[in-house]
Amino acid sequence: MLTTQSPAAWLFCCRHDFESTLRAELARSGLPSEHTRVLAPGLVHARLLQLPAEQAIRQWDPVYALQVLPAAQAVIADSIAQLAQQAMAALPPQWPSQFGRWHVHVLTLGQLKGQPKPLLTPRAELVRKAILKAMATAMGRQADRQPKPIGMPDLVVQVLLVTAQTAWISASPVVRWGRAMTWPSLVPAGLADPPDEDAAPSSAFRKLREAFAILGNPAPGERVVDLGASPGGWSHVLQALDCQVTAVDRTELAPSLMASPRIEFVRGDAFRWQPAAPVDGLVSDVIAAPERATALLQNWCNQHWMRWFVVQLKFKGEPNWDELERALACGRQSGYIVRAKHFFNDKNEVTVMGFANEEP
Ligand SMILES: C[S@@+](CC[C@H](N)C(=O)[O-])C[C@H]1O[C@@H](n2cnc3c(N)ncnc32)[C@H](O)[C@@H]1O
Repeated sequence: MLTTQSPAAWLFCCRHDFESTLRAELARSGLPSEHTRVLAPGLVHARLLQLPAEQAIRQWDPVYALQVLPAAQAVIADSIAQLAQQAMAALPPQWPSQFGRWHVHVLTLGQLKGQPKPLLTPRAELVRKAILKAMATAMGRQADRQPKPIGMPDLVVQVLLVTAQTAWISASPVVRWGRAMTWPSLVPAGLADPPDEDAAPSSAFRKLREAFAILGNPAPGERVVDLGASPGGWSHVLQALDCQVTAVDRTELAPSLMASPRIEFVRGDAFRWQPAAPVDGLVSDVIAAPERATALLQNWCNQHWMRWFVVQLKFKGEPNWDELERALACGRQSGYIVRAKHFFNDKNEVTVMGFANEEP
């Protein structure tokens, strides 16, 4: 049996326990709370029928949403083959001629909560394979019909399994910002899930790995300043990527990092320290009021001291929405492409990321 349960909705994945924060953010951007509800831990449902125009998408890229499933359709399907059939039916009519690569993410509810072995994982993999096979078959039939336009977007198909027989299905073009940032995320559920790194002196390394998963890794040899670096989780990530690191903090890094030839430790005040010459990247995890972190970011952006940045904005209590807006605006005003995310490993803080808009 194949039935449609309800009209299309938008689904947003977030860090569990941050559903109400995400709903508050959606309400601030014009989606009243009576239009949103929590479907499951880490999953917010919004009644919003239209796919926004590309230029409006930034508005629908909430900071607290790790992933978005635009215009998702609730379906019931008795078998994996039927689910694959439903996913094919959800594809836009211009597919495959108007799209480049396609990406298929099959998600489970437990995955959104970060469970290591969530229920339905084996079924999710079978569904993914069935969809890929059906898409490849359709592609084979139509591949030679007409030349593809240049610069066509990728397509992302997302299936969220709720039970073995029920799911949400969303198919959406992928919008790219400059280098590596995409909407929807090409990381399934927006969960980069960084593996353990035994040599890291703190678990904070996970936050920077999550940022690089959507910003792109720095290239080997890049010069990166790490402000508020101790005990050195972020410096550890940067040196593992073969960057040349200047780590600034009032206290020393872990001994193994103090001895690293790729890290120069500078004891000092992160808010006063200045680079002798522009660098490639700035990362900052300094514990400070959000106003101070924004002022620091503004200073670095105004001077164009870096090509890209990852800066934490740490809150006390409720998010400081105005300060978050200011942090995004100060990078944009200086010509950076800027985005902020509350990552799975972020606590009461958000990660503001940007890179110089050097593309024509
Ligand atoms: C959350 S920890 C950084 C953790 C680090 N990113 C890691 O991965 O291990 C914050 C750091 O900011 C440093 N800090 C706070 N205020 C500072 C300041 N004004 N100048 C330099 N460091 C500062 C603290 O000493 C602390 O080591």
